[in-house]
Amino acid sequence: MAACMTTDIAELFAEREGDRYAMHSRHLNEQMVRVLRAIGYDVEFRRGSGQYLFDRNGTRYLDLLSGFGVFAIGRNHPSLRTALTSVLDSEFPNLVQLDVSVLAGILAERLLAQVPYLDKVSFANSGTEAVETAIKFARASTGRQGLVYCEHAFHGLTTGALALNGDAIFRNGFEPLLPDCIAVPFNDLPALEQALAARDIAAFFVEPIQGKGVNMPDDGYLKSAADLCRRYGTLFVADEIQTGLGRTGRFLAVEHWNVEPDMVLLSKSLSGGHVPVSAVLMRRPIFEKVFDRMDRAVIHGSTFAKNDLAMAAGIATLQVIEQERLIEKAACMGDRLLRELSAMIPRYELLTDVRGRGLMIGIEFGAPNSFGLKASWNVIESASKGLFCQLFTIPLFKEHKILCQVAGHASHTIKLLPALVISDDDCDWILRAFEAVIASGHRVPGAVWSLGKTLVDHAMRARAAR
Ligand SMILES: Cc1ncc(COP(=O)(O)O)c(C=O)c1O
Repeated sequence: MAACMTTDIAELFAEREGDRYAMHSRHLNEQMVRVLRAIGYDVEFRRGSGQYLFDRNGTRYLDLLSGFGVFAIGRNHPSLRTALTSVLDSEFPNLVQLDVSVLAGILAERLLAQVPYLDKVSFANSGTEAVETAIKFARASTGRQGLVYCEHAFHGLTTGALALNGDAIFRNGFEPLLPDCIAVPFNDLPALEQALAARDIAAFFVEPIQGKGVNMPDDGYLKSAADLCRRYGTLFVADEIQTGLGRTGRFLAVEHWNVEPDMVLLSKSLSGGHVPVSAVLMRRPIFEKVFDRMDRAVIHGSTFAKNDLAMAAGIATLQVIEQERLIEKAACMGDRLLRELSAMIPRYELLTDVRGRGLMIGIEFGAPNSFGLKASWNVIESASKGLFCQLFTIPLFKEHKILCQVAGHASHTIKLLPALVISDDDCDWILRAFEAVIASGHRVPGAVWSLGKTLVDHAMRARAAR
């Protein structure tokens, strides 16, 4: 037990923050600590504000990861802090359980006002729990067992949601998962129709833009998929956990393609980043099939769902999104970034695609043609598929103080998922940094490729040690 017993959390943080890696190695995920050290991300972040993080030296970083998309309104937003403090100061009768929550009523009302064709809400605590809820409601309301999902889909990591995961790396070792789950390629309507035709599929789960890879739907895909679902009696479930609440420049990403799902899943930025929360919005008959009698009033739920802090965080977040016009801002900043990053494609042979909507952007790299670059690319690719993007994300972090992620395992795409509050100056920062690291990647020999050699050596040593 630590010698220090203070209950002042700020003091405790200050006293123990130097031990963070040691504590995690000892008691939590040591592999994560090893990764951070290997790639030089062990800078000991001390503070977060808006779209920025500050490390132990006070150095400012532009955060394009935003906690996997939860800080859409920026870190530690003052309105959110005020809302949470006000809940704590109020002595509300939180989680009575044998009463109903006022704040949950308000948040449900405000969410449904944004999605007027849906009528009911079921709250939960995380994205994956929203997916579990949707699986249960879909099965109960249709009387069918089957579920269809897309290859490369990501819907969370609990066992139900994992059964809908389109990447083997997440599933391996945890199987068998839920039976009767069928994968179809994203953007493949004939495959979807084939899967639905037997009329035994309860729901089709789809991310309007896939988070892993930032894969875009073809223009008519989502609309036709929803039509197919209706034809075969299958529910169309839009997982908007990452894309929703303004991220793509609309309240829901499905609005870009005029689709009205039967269920919409929200989480991540709904909490403003502070308190876990998720919501499943759905049509009335789906909900009423589950809650159909008084003796089934608690047939589905979760102890902490609808807790006052989470509900207040949701209410405050929706208010900030509206007051600061963050949806319009995401559309505008996103257009600029997409346009100016795309303009780099003709100048850099390693850069093959820039895609996305609003502030969910994928920057994809691919095999070059010129002799020197091709040889270096092949060395990296044969050592570990997906290592390549780290040749850019590491210098982006170390030299340009930009935090961003690779869009998935073995992916050649870097994903930008910043707070929706980023400014034109931040966009200049992003464009300058990407231009510099991509240009440097086209110089052989050069700093980027010597980093590549170090990473390959690392990968080889790790493999040999296994
Ligand atoms: C589209 C989508 N669905 C579900 C989830 C799972 O959310 P959580 O990590 O809160 O369980 C995620 C998380 O990244 C996601 O992006």
